[in-house]
Amino acid sequence: MSHLWFPYAQMQTMPLPLKVVGANGVKLRLENGQELIDAISSWWCAIHGYNNEEINAALQRQMLQFSHVMLGGLTHEPAEKLAEELVRISPQGLNHVFFADSGSVGMEVAMKMAVQFWKNNGVEGKYKFAALRKGYHGDTTGAMSIGDPEEGMHHLFKGFLPKQFFINPDLNEMEDLFREHSKEIAAFACEPLLQGAGGFNFYSSAFLKGAQELCEKYGVLFIADEVATGFGRTGTMFACEQADIMVLGKALTGGYLGLSATLASDRVFDSFLGESYEKAFMHGPTFMGNALACSAALASLRIFERENYLQKIARINEILKEELLGFEARGVKETRVLGACGVIETVSGKNHKGIQEFAAERGVWLRPFLNVVYTMPPYIISEEELRKICGVMKNFFYIN
Ligand SMILES: Cc1ncc(COP(=O)(O)O)c(C=O)c1O
Repeated sequence: MSHLWFPYAQMQTMPLPLKVVGANGVKLRLENGQELIDAISSWWCAIHGYNNEEINAALQRQMLQFSHVMLGGLTHEPAEKLAEELVRISPQGLNHVFFADSGSVGMEVAMKMAVQFWKNNGVEGKYKFAALRKGYHGDTTGAMSIGDPEEGMHHLFKGFLPKQFFINPDLNEMEDLFREHSKEIAAFACEPLLQGAGGFNFYSSAFLKGAQELCEKYGVLFIADEVATGFGRTGTMFACEQADIMVLGKALTGGYLGLSATLASDRVFDSFLGESYEKAFMHGPTFMGNALACSAALASLRIFERENYLQKIARINEILKEELLGFEARGVKETRVLGACGVIETVSGKNHKGIQEFAAERGVWLRPFLNVVYTMPPYIISEEELRKICGVMKNFFYIN
């Protein structure tokens, strides 16, 4: 009997999990010797696949110096350098980096920053957030409160979570909300262009741009949750071009270690300056800026830029479009592709029941949920491997 409690699982009926004993390139190796192409990059983070020599070496070098020291009153080269690099590559004006250990906590940090920003500026009453329906921002309390209120995983906790405002990606709806409630709203948070765990919904860059303008007009901060979209997933380095606060995670360390970065603009950061602690940001996860995680992130970014990953992503995009767009079969409602993300939406979750086992038998690791079957492959995937993933995804619907 396993003592492990698995995520998002009914432990009474959960099928036996597959045991991984090794992982190399895009493949997971199982206990029984079988190899599976990881079509979803271990929840979207393993962008270089597994066992990357350069990241391994960076970790070994850092480990021999030191693995971790607190950032309270101490600093170190990997954290300093990573902050500098993130400022260099992120949208202009995001000059200040606060590290934490997961995307969820990175979002909590962003939300606390936004609330305190207004207080520090002497503006009272802005404690609420606006967010998009069908969004997902993590499993901690604050992040859950801005996740989809109805269909998301968190409707169970309705009475427990702070009540927030939700809109569809529609500028009229957003302006109506802001006209009435902007005095209560600290920030608007969204996953730019691609809403992941809420069902892989895409929306237009016109909405994103308009939303940024409305935030400015009505005095609401704009939080870009790029935990999933950051590092090329939608086709560009980041999905948004402007934000007051931006959160990165997942692919930040190339999928090696937990790390998030909450980047803030000068305007946000400066509001925390003063003579006393009263205005300071009182937050500090024990493992923030972990030296191993920062070293992995630096190596990951170096590879990303040197190997021109954006070009690889553009090629993945072409193949996904060729393979998935226009695909029709019983139970399939729609297919869509953005950047290195390909989705088959089914009429209901029942229509893809059994696809995980079907794919595993054919050498592909998928993890569908709600009514979507998707791939977000490691960027190093070969054309042949990617076509195999898409073929397996489609064949399931032909056969069933
Ligand atoms: C957009 C987005 N934000 C936040 C998170 C939470 O990140 P983590 O699982 O590292 O806490 C996720 C995770 O799926 C995510 O997709």
